[in-house]
Amino acid sequence: MRKQIVAGNWKMNKTVQESTQLADEIVSNVKDLSLNNTRVIIAPTFVNLSEVIKVTESSIVEVAAQNMHQAKSGAYTGEISAEMLTSLGLKTVILGHSERREYFGETDAILAEKVDAALANDLEVIFCFGEVLEDRKAGNHFNVVESQIKNGLFHLEATAWKNIVLAYEPVWAIGTGETASPEQAQEMHAFIRKIVADKYNQEVADNVSILYGGSVNPGNAKEIFSKQDVDGGLIGGAALKADSFISLVKSF
Ligand code: G3P
Repeated sequence: MRKQIVAGNWKMNKTVQESTQLADEIVSNVKDLSLNNTRVIIAPTFVNLSEVIKVTESSIVEVAAQNMHQAKSGAYTGEISAEMLTSLGLKTVILGHSERREYFGETDAILAEKVDAALANDLEVIFCFGEVLEDRKAGNHFNVVESQIKNGLFHLEATAWKNIVLAYEPVWAIGTGETASPEQAQEMHAFIRKIVADKYNQEVADNVSILYGGSVNPGNAKEIFSKQDVDGGLIGGAALKADSFISLVKSF
């Protein structure tokens, strides 16, 4: 049975003190919840990973990185390798976020290399994709999403998909307050699950968690997460405060 997941992408926010404080609040709140099929993941910035891991290591709260480089090592100033992440004890990395694609020129081809490097180091990948508003207005959103998934992931063998989590994040909903409706989310998630089933098989499709991201908040999470093919959320703004993040964890 696929897992429900609430993952907080903290983006470029929080000092080390603020990060450990938020992590501590989340750990304290989560321990009182009976979460049988729900994973809770937080993704601080690179510089805060090791301190946040110390805070969460005795709890069910998992820590993820927000990115990594595809090279094993070398002259890539400012970059972080998969091995550096695993040396911290990290098990999950977010790849392909629209902000990486837009601001840092991460193409489908680069992301396919990053996915391979992450999987080669036994990292689980939360793979992000999603259309921009123009694509949706033109009715091209399904083609765009299918292309991103195909180009980033469809070179993988079926067995590799045990370490893949999908995150559909319509770019027009990220940080805008313009959340996709539960029906829009369900429609796209069902489409995504079908293209995975068509490429591989129904078991792979049924076992992959597909998260929705884009202005999820305590007011809309319950309805969005209740949809059959929505397995939780990748959260930005609402993840930066313990009370709102915990409210989302309780929203299944
Ligand atoms: O990766 C999650 C993020 O892109 C969503 O941001 O602030 O719209 O929840 P936000």
